[in-house]
Amino acid sequence: MSTGATPIGVGMLGCGVVGAGVVKLLQDKSALYAHRTGRRIELAKVGVRDPHKDRGVALDAALLTTDLHAVTTDPDVDIVVELMGGTEPAVELMLEAIRHGKHVVTANKEAIAKFGREIFTAANEMGVDVYFEASVGGGIPVIQPFKRSLIANEVTELAGIINGTTNYILTAMTEQARDLADVLDEAQRLGYAEADPTADVDGHDAKYKLAILASLIFGCRIDVDQIHCEGIRGVTATDIAYAKQFGYVIKLLAKAAQHERGIEARVHPCLVPVGHPMAAVNGVYNALFLKGDAVGDVMLYGRGAGQMPTASAVVSDILNIASDITAAKSSRLMACQHNHTGTLLPMSETISQFYLRLSTHDRPGVLGFVGSGLGQHGISIETFVQSRVTGGLAEMVFITRPAREADIQHALTQLKASDSVHDVSSVLRVGP
Ligand code: NAP
Ligand code: HSE
Repeated sequence: MSTGATPIGVGMLGCGVVGAGVVKLLQDKSALYAHRTGRRIELAKVGVRDPHKDRGVALDAALLTTDLHAVTTDPDVDIVVELMGGTEPAVELMLEAIRHGKHVVTANKEAIAKFGREIFTAANEMGVDVYFEASVGGGIPVIQPFKRSLIANEVTELAGIINGTTNYILTAMTEQARDLADVLDEAQRLGYAEADPTADVDGHDAKYKLAILASLIFGCRIDVDQIHCEGIRGVTATDIAYAKQFGYVIKLLAKAAQHERGIEARVHPCLVPVGHPMAAVNGVYNALFLKGDAVGDVMLYGRGAGQMPTASAVVSDILNIASDITAAKSSRLMACQHNHTGTLLPMSETISQFYLRLSTHDRPGVLGFVGSGLGQHGISIETFVQSRVTGGLAEMVFITRPAREADIQHALTQLKASDSVHDVSSVLRVGP
């Protein structure tokens, strides 16, 4: 196919870690991409905060601008690639680009999860595409497989390790028996964790990604604030050691499932059986495990972050849109086709197995008291160990049979108030 036609113009908002990777790919593989899409892809403008910064790529200074509106309104730009992060000014700039008839590619999970309604409504009205493959799972193809390759299925449930930073921390804590603070410090020094690790460590990054996935598979908008979200700050080396003793590893899981009464969507640490494929997902790797009614179990695995894996997803989106522009078509499959907000099941109604670690007074009858306290709320015990009697205290660790979240919380409140239980040290769920 001839590639002599007018090039497809790309305008970038942001050129940091991911943006520099995108520039590298567009420069190094320009002939290949022209061959694959039928048109040359040309960088038209790159909006940044500091035009004098060294970005590790050979970028023509004439392309750089601090005027971000010059990118979103440039007539030579067909596709605006947002790689700034955060919601402001990123969301307003994406909306401005859409109003000017530009297609948008973004890696910004927070913007899509919180402002997807505004962004996709505007895109549908203007007849432009918004692609966001890199927003979940970094380099792992996730959005395209859901929208195209698995479209014949109803996906009934999924569980994912979708935050690389927390998986790196939990893996190091497990393999080296270290504490969270120590590993987090190292992850920051090595550049795996951000200077402000809150979004990762407290589970918000995984929550945004889960909102995007749940919206895709259940065909509705998801109110991100209704997703139950617990990070990994409460996970201790002691819990990891007990989990190992019981045959589990602890992972930060994002889970979603469709029930008759609503959608279950939650992010929290979880004990995963060592034999489950998710237990072997270590370090900064991500994985998504899902069940389709026709296909059965599927696992998607790979690098969930990092410059070139993420740039791979971003550039693939650019090329897919470029190819559609060249063919003068738009992909209905990739567009947002729903408007209603899904009903989320309250966390209190969800069912899980629980890992409970209690510090109790070392007296006759206390084990029976705890067992009947759980039993009164319909909670049955599957496994139990007692150890480390120190200072008049005994540590009891239970794994329960599946129980309702509300029943566990009520039982623990009662046990905490008793004079037999000194402290409820840990409550974790068992999964996936
Ligand atoms: P980054 O390194 O911090 O880069 C951000 C870029 O945006 C920088 O070039 C910065 O300009 C520019 N920028 C930010 N605010 C600006 C403003 N107000 N005005 C002008 N320019 C502004 O971020 P990143 O790691 O590349 O991440 C980009 C996006 O990709 C985020 O949404 C992130 O969540 C997502 N993502 C990242 C990864 C990853 O591994 N890093 C993986 C998946 C998804 P200056 O360079 O001049 O400061
Ligand atoms: N902070 C994210 C992670 C980067 O650790 O997975 C990719 O979204």
